[in-house]
Amino acid sequence: MRKIAVLGYGTVGSGVVAVLERSAEQIAKRLGEPVQAVKVLDIRDFPDDPIQKYIVHDFQEILNDPEIEVVAEVMGGLHPAYEYVSQALAAGKHVATSNKALVEAYGAELGEIAKAHQVSFLFEASVAGGIPILRTMNTAMIQEEIRQITGILNGTTNYILALMEDTGATFEEALKDAQARGYAERDPEADIEGYDAARKIAILASMIRGKHVRYQDVPTKGISGITKADIEGAAALGGRLKLLGSCSQEDGKLYVSVEPTFVPMNHLLAAVNSVFNAVMVKSSMLGDTMFYGKGAGKLATASAVVADILAALDGSGVYEMHTWSKETDEPSHPADRPCRYMVRAEGEKTEHPLIASLASTEGGFSILTEQCSKQELAELLEQIERRAKVRGVFRKVEE
Ligand code: HSE
Repeated sequence: MRKIAVLGYGTVGSGVVAVLERSAEQIAKRLGEPVQAVKVLDIRDFPDDPIQKYIVHDFQEILNDPEIEVVAEVMGGLHPAYEYVSQALAAGKHVATSNKALVEAYGAELGEIAKAHQVSFLFEASVAGGIPILRTMNTAMIQEEIRQITGILNGTTNYILALMEDTGATFEEALKDAQARGYAERDPEADIEGYDAARKIAILASMIRGKHVRYQDVPTKGISGITKADIEGAAALGGRLKLLGSCSQEDGKLYVSVEPTFVPMNHLLAAVNSVFNAVMVKSSMLGDTMFYGKGAGKLATASAVVADILAALDGSGVYEMHTWSKETDEPSHPADRPCRYMVRAEGEKTEHPLIASLASTEGGFSILTEQCSKQELAELLEQIERRAKVRGVFRKVEE
């Protein structure tokens, strides 16, 4: 029997135990031996749960147990997760984590510790939950130069925007609904202001650049300012607004952002509704690929953690997930290059050669621009403002 430990018996931690149990036969067949969580660290006790016999309150019990080969860190937060993970790696234990804050902040350092001690530091579940995007980039796409990644990386905000569009709910009403269903936290700031998606795109950008892209350096705008009129304006132009994380490289420069973005209905990302996530990758040889699935939730996220645990336990050697150096890479905003925009205004229409299409809306209009620079956009907005009030400006998704 191969032994592992779990740090944190919350939603994902209990999911890891459940996946190991429910898939026990499958795992034993593939690995040749069963895998058992023999110690579970939590500050709480769970007297009515069979897990209680494995609960420990002191991390040293896990660290000092030579039979534990892998530590699954699913407690979240930076501390003490960082201390536990670095100690576990230094003690020669593999680590699998779902903790995006930890990976974004300390991924470079933890990757180095893992390498020095010849163990695996794996973090598939930290980006897009259950979708196997990092492993795919590390294996099946290792020969590819990744040119662009565009993703719906936050299920909560995708649910809120879809509900606003489907039911005509305001942002506040849709947020309340998401909270009642358990899709949004009681403190929803990290989701609705885009910080959660910014951490995920920062991890993806760091992976493809080989340098640390700090989430604080990702230009980030959330969805709390989106109105019903914005949603209707996008619909009038034949599209919808989605909170997209995007990163692209061109001429050696990196462009990253998280922002509500106009997505035409015929774009694959427009079809991603409810709490689902999707990641589109444009790469040098393969062209476009898209990965779709559950970006959150107990079993989906735990499934990705368990996949990492099994990769670490697989006898074929240390499974190295590509991390990045501590050197930082400063991203630019995608709008530093020419982009297309959706502009929503209230008042009288205007004419301008940069307007590619225009749709009337209640009390105003929405336009889609041709490709234009920031300067050209500013001039267009100035002209619109002579007869109307600009209420919303959104980038159009890059093709
Ligand atoms: N709150 C996140 C989401 C959970 O809605 O996608 C997964 O990181």
